[in-house]
Amino acid sequence: MPGLSLASDCACTMAPGRLEPCVLVIFGASGDLTARKLMPALFSLAQQRALPRQLAILGAARTPMDDQVFRELILSALPKGDDQERRAFGERLFYLHVDYQDRASFTRLAARLAELDARLGTAGNRIFYLATPPGLYDPIGRNLGRGGLSAPPPGGFARMVVEKPFGRDLKSARRLDAALHQSFEERQIFRIDHYLAKETVQNILMLRFANSIFEPLWNRSHIEYVGIMAAEELGVEHRAGYYEGAGVVRDMFQNHLMQLLALTSMEPPSRLAADRVREEKNKVFRSLKPYGNRALGREMLLGQYGPGALRGQAMPGYREEPGVAPDSRTPTFAITRLFIDNWRWGGVPFYLASGKRLAAKQTQIVIQFREAPRSLFSGIMPDNFQANRLVIGIYPEERIALSFQAKGQGPRLCLTPVDMEFTYPQNGAGAADSYEKVLLDCLLGDQLLFWDQTGIELSWAFLDPVLKAQDRRTAASLPNLYPAGSWCPQAAGEWMRLIHA
Ligand code: BG6
Repeated sequence: MPGLSLASDCACTMAPGRLEPCVLVIFGASGDLTARKLMPALFSLAQQRALPRQLAILGAARTPMDDQVFRELILSALPKGDDQERRAFGERLFYLHVDYQDRASFTRLAARLAELDARLGTAGNRIFYLATPPGLYDPIGRNLGRGGLSAPPPGGFARMVVEKPFGRDLKSARRLDAALHQSFEERQIFRIDHYLAKETVQNILMLRFANSIFEPLWNRSHIEYVGIMAAEELGVEHRAGYYEGAGVVRDMFQNHLMQLLALTSMEPPSRLAADRVREEKNKVFRSLKPYGNRALGREMLLGQYGPGALRGQAMPGYREEPGVAPDSRTPTFAITRLFIDNWRWGGVPFYLASGKRLAAKQTQIVIQFREAPRSLFSGIMPDNFQANRLVIGIYPEERIALSFQAKGQGPRLCLTPVDMEFTYPQNGAGAADSYEKVLLDCLLGDQLLFWDQTGIELSWAFLDPVLKAQDRRTAASLPNLYPAGSWCPQAAGEWMRLIHA
């Protein structure tokens, strides 16, 4: 069956807001995130002429260096390209050596910002991007406040951008939030979830609410179950320091999978605006049926990868990875079944799964519709008959596929499952990297794709009971081993088969 294609006459609009002059201050500028994600995204935006002309990027970190060394460091890590574009990008870069705990550093920061404003016309507008370990959010936020840097200039803005983890449970998330709110108001805080900036993830709302054929079926009367899966091939890599204390539920469920769940199940917002969309998502979180006391092992199953092989290459188990305790119980896989107790979804199971070192990287949402009555076709329906299924693929292909039954060609009467599929062109024109999208939205001041604190707290409040049980080291919290390169622990097979199309 032919695929569908993107029509050229699409109704496009940029996020609301205007690109204003500003200084983007990146704390943690000598780190991995800055080099791997932020700078390439900013450079790409510069190449697309999507940055404000008066945008200066001020790197701030503990490593002593001057502007010139910083420029060379950043430029050497960027993809090769037009020399003039690289030079122009280099001219936007500046550097300041800071000690995050030291107030005097922030006095120097204020002076440097004032100097850049005077020299480059950046108008006192600021974005503070915290690309640092989360332990530093509190001192940086506090010191920005004390230095008078969190107050926006008249008619302008001062924004703070933070990355997950937003705490490690409800209590710490609240503590972190209180620290940030000492200096910044909620409308100034942009909490990134890079999943929200993925093209197909944004498309979930368009698919559901810009078409009239799906929404009437999008409920408990027609849907058997929903599956949300984020499978990864990668192991823990060099992040054991963080991951050992986190595990898969904190790392993937509390944020990315919860967002996918909310987008798939929320009611239509009254407008496509940040506050309206967040409000509807939060209603979903509020309607989640709480896990019972003994959910671990029953409603959520944990796993950890052992030694195995991926694409013919031997892989170590999680406990053999550098920095991981030889008796670690940290789960690298989890699958859960949860329910949204409202009129639309009551009784429909939602299966959420994620794991590291699985057989392939695959991220998708499966909407499994109920079976049609069979009597009419008894005898010609195959035994493994699959009712209609809508798959929203996020990785490797960004696609939407609807499977249905059709008559097999030829004189005999038989039914065959067929797919109708739409695939976004890989790296197609206009496809933006997630970080490009979030950086642009920060510059525009649009919070649509960012978490609000209420959502963060509701999500932690829901997961806290299973996380507590996981950390308690009971028999139920002992993760089931699965070989690296397989799809899941054996015990999770039944649920995993439902959602792994
Ligand atoms: C991050 C997690 O938030 O998301 C990582 O910390 C994970 O552990 C990553 O690998 C997955 O993102 P993506 O976009 O590759 O699915």
